[in-house]
Amino acid sequence: MPSDTEPPEDRAAIEALFDEVRTIPPSDEFKKRALITDTSLYDEANQDWQGFWARQALALDWYDEWDTILEWKLPFAQWFVGGTLNVSHNCLDRHVANGLADRVAYHWEGEPGDTRTITYGELLNEVQKFANVLKGLGVERGDRVNIYLPMIPELPVAMLACARIGAPHSVVFGGFSAEALRDRILDAQAKVLITADGGWRRGSAVPLKVNADNAVAEAPTIEHVVVVRRTEADVPMQDGRDQWWHDLMADAFPRCEPERMDAEDLLYLLYTSGTTAKPKGIMHTTGGYLTQVAFTHKYVFDLHADTDVYWCAADIGWVTGHSYIVYGPLANGATSVMYEGTPDFPDKDRWWSIIERYGVTILYCAPTGIRTFMKWGTQYPEAHDMSSLRVLGSVGEPINPEAWMWYWEHIGGGRCPVVDTWWQTETGAIMISPLPGATTLKPGSATFPLPGIAAEVVDEKGNKVELGGGYLTLTRPWPSMLRGIYGDPERYRETYWSRFEDRYFAGDGAKLDDGGYFWLLGRVDDVMNISGHRVSTTEVESALVDHPSVAEAAVVGTKDETTGQAIIAFVTLKGGQEPSDERGEELRKHVTAKIGAIARPKTVIFTDDLPKTRSGKIMRRLLRDVADGRDLGDTTTLADPAVVEEIKRRATVSPTEE
Ligand code: WT7
Repeated sequence: MPSDTEPPEDRAAIEALFDEVRTIPPSDEFKKRALITDTSLYDEANQDWQGFWARQALALDWYDEWDTILEWKLPFAQWFVGGTLNVSHNCLDRHVANGLADRVAYHWEGEPGDTRTITYGELLNEVQKFANVLKGLGVERGDRVNIYLPMIPELPVAMLACARIGAPHSVVFGGFSAEALRDRILDAQAKVLITADGGWRRGSAVPLKVNADNAVAEAPTIEHVVVVRRTEADVPMQDGRDQWWHDLMADAFPRCEPERMDAEDLLYLLYTSGTTAKPKGIMHTTGGYLTQVAFTHKYVFDLHADTDVYWCAADIGWVTGHSYIVYGPLANGATSVMYEGTPDFPDKDRWWSIIERYGVTILYCAPTGIRTFMKWGTQYPEAHDMSSLRVLGSVGEPINPEAWMWYWEHIGGGRCPVVDTWWQTETGAIMISPLPGATTLKPGSATFPLPGIAAEVVDEKGNKVELGGGYLTLTRPWPSMLRGIYGDPERYRETYWSRFEDRYFAGDGAKLDDGGYFWLLGRVDDVMNISGHRVSTTEVESALVDHPSVAEAAVVGTKDETTGQAIIAFVTLKGGQEPSDERGEELRKHVTAKIGAIARPKTVIFTDDLPKTRSGKIMRRLLRDVADGRDLGDTTTLADPAVVEEIKRRATVSPTEE
């Protein structure tokens, strides 16, 4: 973490912001059916937080119950010590044994429009067969398996098959390059790679097998490659190494007993970027992870598994998909929608058409998506009947109040609680979020830590902050917490547990209002220091997006001789709006009016799009480089590298300099 980054503390600006905030209590209509409508869960957890988590763990099937709920030797936690269970049994067998074989697990839709309906009974069959395929390829308990697949049903099948035989998986998002895949395979020392000929994205086939071949050429740990046929692209199959999924499955034995796994056995690795170039292999284990993803999936989304149709529109290649497309929903016996492609194929109403056709009741997506839909216009959602929706979720980045209200109004029809869920790859499951039947919402706030979770905002010295801005920390272990960074325990301690004594430091800034609500401010390395005053990029972006002409904005701090840092705003205008110097000036004034002169951008750069990672996160580092006039670094994780070129060009051609 750079030393010049500190959270904002401008009390007057914070209070001015809170004065404008509206509150939205749960409606009586929603409360009538809600699982939780009062503070009882919080009260219970406050009495005895370990006992509380143990009671949640009892919602799962265990072969042996644990002896000790928690062993905590900071920073290393062990939950449900001595307990044994199997994740695939909990996600599949027990539901089938309970008579739910015919319940739909996934309504799957491919981007070209092909569909598959997969029941719990069918999913269990597929998983058992593929578990036997893996065993046949020599995969044993404890071996790592790499998965590089598009959003097709074979992806959850492969993950659950790994879980069934106790082989930790390492899923690499299909948008990652061959090099990124190679590095992750090598770090995990995986034996088998599961991939596909390709996947569909915005009408074209993504060449996964080509990337996989290039990766495996330099990753000698891989002994076998299993290839799913998806796009029918002509792909070379290497003799003795590559085999088709459908050929292997055709001969696979349909029964495979689940392994009895220790609660602390590794369930999966998931790589995430840190401040250095080397991605971190985040380790998640079995009992605690499943306990918290199941608990949060049920209560945060007010899941009624027998009637709800739940859709998390993330990609399984990210933690959101691991926890809230695969493990949480399946552990709860939910019916999910799973969609392969982009939201604008064949047209910009694809999501709303999916919601209408499947009767989706719960939608979980990211603010970047919501802001894109805002940019496209309300005519797309308005063309569809979305009255089935009853809960909306947001995740991945701070949601600005304007996007929150747009989501609430134009997607939720003013009737669906919006749960803004804060968590990280490292936390494994949702940590700070409303409970929709119990929490009075404030648009833009993730509200409160969930029952059993303890979060505090602290100042530079680690002292607890009661009101105002600071660093977000977690003050005690939680069941789904990362157990470490694969192969690097020291980096784990250093990254998360060294900044503040006895606290996990999340890397995020947050502020508390006088009602104890948490407002996430983004990563602290995105906090700027202007003339000795601290200004959050998120706050300035929120102010910009609040302007009727703005669709999306990203703000970075650039070095400035006089003020230390100066604010540069990259702005995408809504359709039909033209960039001009006048418009830039208007936006600078708008920010001044919303927050104060201290937050006024020095320069506004208009661009047709912002550089984003494949997961939709704005690449601020890159924008900072553009702003500083430095050479651009590695752009391989960009959704569209051309965007950067354009921004760079505009940055040198037409800044609205003062
Ligand atoms: C970072 C974690 C959690 C799954 C997807 C991202 C930011 C996440 C929120 C939220 C404000 C959020 C944080 C966090 N973030 N959710 N509701 N409000 N910020 O996982 O890639 O591990 O990123 O995303 O900055 O630290 P990730």
